[in-house]
Amino acid sequence: MRVYNFSPGPSALPLPVLERAAAEMIDTNGTGQSVMEMSHRSKDFKPIIEKTEALLRELMGIPPNYKVLFLQGGASLQFSMIPLNLAGTEPGTPKKKAAYVETGIWAKKAADEGIKYVDVAVKASSKDKAYTYIPAAPAPDPADAYYHITLNNTIVGTKWTTAPDTGSVPLVADISSGILSEPLKVSQFGILYAGAQKNLGPAGTTVVIIREDLIGKAPSWTPLLLRYDIHAEEGSMYNTPPCYGIYIIGLVLEWLKELGGVAAIAKLNQEKADLFYAYLESSRGFYSPVEKPFRSLMNIPFISNETDPDRRADLESRFLKEAAAKGLVNLAGHRLVGGMRASLYNAMPIDGVKALIAFMEHFER
Ligand SMILES: Cc1ncc(COP(=O)(O)O)c(C=O)c1O
Repeated sequence: MRVYNFSPGPSALPLPVLERAAAEMIDTNGTGQSVMEMSHRSKDFKPIIEKTEALLRELMGIPPNYKVLFLQGGASLQFSMIPLNLAGTEPGTPKKKAAYVETGIWAKKAADEGIKYVDVAVKASSKDKAYTYIPAAPAPDPADAYYHITLNNTIVGTKWTTAPDTGSVPLVADISSGILSEPLKVSQFGILYAGAQKNLGPAGTTVVIIREDLIGKAPSWTPLLLRYDIHAEEGSMYNTPPCYGIYIIGLVLEWLKELGGVAAIAKLNQEKADLFYAYLESSRGFYSPVEKPFRSLMNIPFISNETDPDRRADLESRFLKEAAAKGLVNLAGHRLVGGMRASLYNAMPIDGVKALIAFMEHFER
């Protein structure tokens, strides 16, 4: 039995994609091989990576002066690659400056890692209210090498409604949990990056979309595999790329294109989120801790109204157990914040949201 999987990542994939991957598992495109068995440099794999990149460019409207890289190391490796490549300095020279906005645990991790390479200025933070809002973004210092934001905050369930205007300072955004969920104007950004394991495909691939003029600035001591210029020059094939992940991303993008692309999925995502937030607003048992204007469409944390901590813990653990028994799984909040969270990525059908609401209404009663 397939369940409704509300996991924040790795997350549910569209069923037609899994069925197609299963059908092609031992013989892909008449090659007599699985994608897992192909040389990444073979004539069989080349069209797969080319198709995946072309579809991503088409669906996201990526301008020609941007490179698309398929890397490894997760979104977390970008926390190091970004400062290193955009603002790393030679030994004995002063650090360059970079701006960060702290809107959650991942945003903080990015800034904390950045400190090793650059002089980090945390321009604003919403830590004072447990990251339940997006703070106003102060203008960058023109000397900042880049300005880093986390567009959708997976753990706390907030999102930037509009990206800040950073003028000539390149805006860099972690879009791991929002990629392809809503339209995004790529040309507003210097770098966009995302771990694949939410809206794109399996864990193990990281997509980096980088404006060409930002490539080639890494200091001489940068490890080869952490250099954007090496990956860009080699078409993500300096070493063996995550071939199977790239293939699945290609299938997911085909599925999305057939559905009508980003505009169509954005409409559906809005409908799903509206339905769930409207339920939470009317619920006597649960509430959303996130301030209304900043609520994510993808990750929706919710908390029991019970105020006694022991009874609340008890209720929440019963909730998760009974939900799982009904095929509604992975609803626990992040271990650092507790409570519950429903992740409604692109592959979650509206029926999954309706089933969750029906269960919650029943549980409340
Ligand atoms: C917004 C965001 N950034 C970064 C990460 C870390 O990603 P990875 O595990 O691919 O390093 C996550 C993981 O959930 C995330 O949600």
